[in-house]
Amino acid sequence: MNILLVGSGGREHALAWKIAQSPLLKRLVAAPGNPGIAALCETRPVKATDVAGLVALAQEIAADLVVVGPESALELGLADRLEDLAIPCFGPTERAAKLETSKAFSKAFAERRGLPSAAFGVFEDTAPAKAFLGRFQPPYVIKADGLAAGKGVVIAETRQEAEGAIDDMLGGKFGQAGARVVIEEFMAGEEASLFALSDGATALLFGAAQDHKRAYDGDKGPNTGGMGTYSPPPVLTPELTEQARRTLIDPAVSGMAAEGRPYRGVLYAGLMLTESGPKLVEFNARFGDPECQALMLRLKSDIVPYLMGAATGRLGELDAPLWREEAAICVVLAAKGYPEAPETGTVIKGADQDFGEDVVVFQAGTERDGDGALIAAGGRVLNVCARGRTLKEARERAYAAVDAIDWPGGFFRRDIGWRALG
Ligand code: AMP
Ligand code: GLY
Repeated sequence: MNILLVGSGGREHALAWKIAQSPLLKRLVAAPGNPGIAALCETRPVKATDVAGLVALAQEIAADLVVVGPESALELGLADRLEDLAIPCFGPTERAAKLETSKAFSKAFAERRGLPSAAFGVFEDTAPAKAFLGRFQPPYVIKADGLAAGKGVVIAETRQEAEGAIDDMLGGKFGQAGARVVIEEFMAGEEASLFALSDGATALLFGAAQDHKRAYDGDKGPNTGGMGTYSPPPVLTPELTEQARRTLIDPAVSGMAAEGRPYRGVLYAGLMLTESGPKLVEFNARFGDPECQALMLRLKSDIVPYLMGAATGRLGELDAPLWREEAAICVVLAAKGYPEAPETGTVIKGADQDFGEDVVVFQAGTERDGDGALIAAGGRVLNVCARGRTLKEARERAYAAVDAIDWPGGFFRRDIGWRALG
């Protein structure tokens, strides 16, 4: 098979690493990829937002399957264009990706389909939005409606702070993404990321992980795209997983089909494990990053039949995927200044040394400079991943590798996995 993989982050490096191991693969091309991905397969300098360029590339390489990493391409309708050409695409159409790209849509969908999630209201004007706050106790949850790169959510401890966030968002701080705000009930509990593949009709659970969203140790500092993950998360017991499948995943997949938006790809349910069971924080139309990295280290089955099955409506023919017994962890190395103003261009040494078969370093925001040195070119830069018989062993291996990488321009959290390890 010829596969085109779209994206350039650590998630896509992990997908490329796993896809490249498939005996079904003939040719893998990544667009645009990164230096880590380029060590595994061909790369082409076509951006993930260049839909016409990606479609042309899929045709040029006679792609049997296009695997879309980031949501940006989905929001621009890449899956729709490929569908027009009958090229199988792992990733939902623009209308189905609304589950992620519009919080107003996904909240209303969750309400219509009876999915357990927070009470909410959607507003375009400040006065009714502020009045709505009166329904809730602090803390208040205020979200910009559209994609705001993970920075569109404010958890405000006071009414005054909440009103300030409403003024900021409706005042244009997030551009078009903040033209509407969603105000939600605060849900208390531990979070977990649950993944399911869907072919439009059937859903198949595809692993779970726990992320660490805050920038610094002890869950301090600003929210980020994720500073580290581990899988499986013991807090998401088999019973809770089954409950989430029954109350959230299955009704979401059948609901999207019933509403004429069949969902093909990976459905990422951000869960809050509350006292009254798993509730939906949000859906995403893609794998989590860096959740995907930890999942790929544990996935024993060939991933290609699953990606293809989801893209072509044949998931029902496959058994549940097999996972290794070991635990996996992913530690993100970010550029100093991330998430506000990451410093790029700093030199990274030792990222591509051989750490043994249980440690894999995925690259995210990296580039080669004119001399071939690896340099930082983004916020999250490296993902140091490890497996172990226990999470503790995986964590020790990962941090030993982190300590062997020489990058004064970076920082990372020392406490990934703390909820499971104490
Ligand atoms: P989102 O972008 O919707 O995933 O929100 C980012 C983060 O804000 C989530 O991962 C949660 O930690 C937190 N959050 C969002 N909505 C709620 C809520 N209703 N109650 C509590 N925490 C929330
Ligand atoms: N790690 C969280 C996300 O991918 O949205």
